[in-house]
Amino acid sequence: MTWHCPEVNIFEGGSGDALSQLAFMTSAVRREGQFSNPSVVMRGSAAELPYDNGIFDAVITDPPYYHNESYSELSDVCYVWLRPTIGFLYPEHFAGQLTPKKKECVAAAYRQGGKQQARDYYEDTLFQSLREAHRVTKPGGILIVVYAHKTTLGWAILVDALRRAG
Ligand SMILES: C[S@@+](CC[C@H](N)C(=O)[O-])C[C@H]1O[C@@H](n2cnc3c(N)ncnc32)[C@H](O)[C@@H]1O
Repeated sequence: MTWHCPEVNIFEGGSGDALSQLAFMTSAVRREGQFSNPSVVMRGSAAELPYDNGIFDAVITDPPYYHNESYSELSDVCYVWLRPTIGFLYPEHFAGQLTPKKKECVAAAYRQGGKQQARDYYEDTLFQSLREAHRVTKPGGILIVVYAHKTTLGWAILVDALRRAG
């Protein structure tokens, strides 16, 4: 997978510039603000869900794709600016100097001590996450998994984890 990032002129006066992005965000906030059933957002690892067995109609998930990207490192780019600006509003989420890395479900040889260890860590965390998804879903419920990988290894790991997780 090759990373492609266009640079948009923020003053361009068209799609993707600063004002159109702000308009997208404010219109979403206005629309969502009309609903009386609020969403509950929780931060934690998918491999350890704090929910009882069989309570959800569906689980929809988009796990990291093997070693394609470390989202926590990507997040650090914004985190270091958010921490001094809004960190005081959410002290429990901004306690660390950078985003947490330890439980991230990603194969990163430099973090996990080698290629094989990285593969084992990713396989195990993906398996545990899918097993948790199975546990919290009602019998006959729905699981949707988004996944992308250019190698058969990446897909084989997902299929194996799905099969083992039930
Ligand atoms: C492929 S991205 C999904 C992006 C998402 N669909 C979106 O539109 O923002 C994978 C996500 O899984 C998160 N992630 C990594 N390890 C995780 C874990 N152990 N538990 C829960 N989420 C995790 C990453 O931080 C990243 O946001």
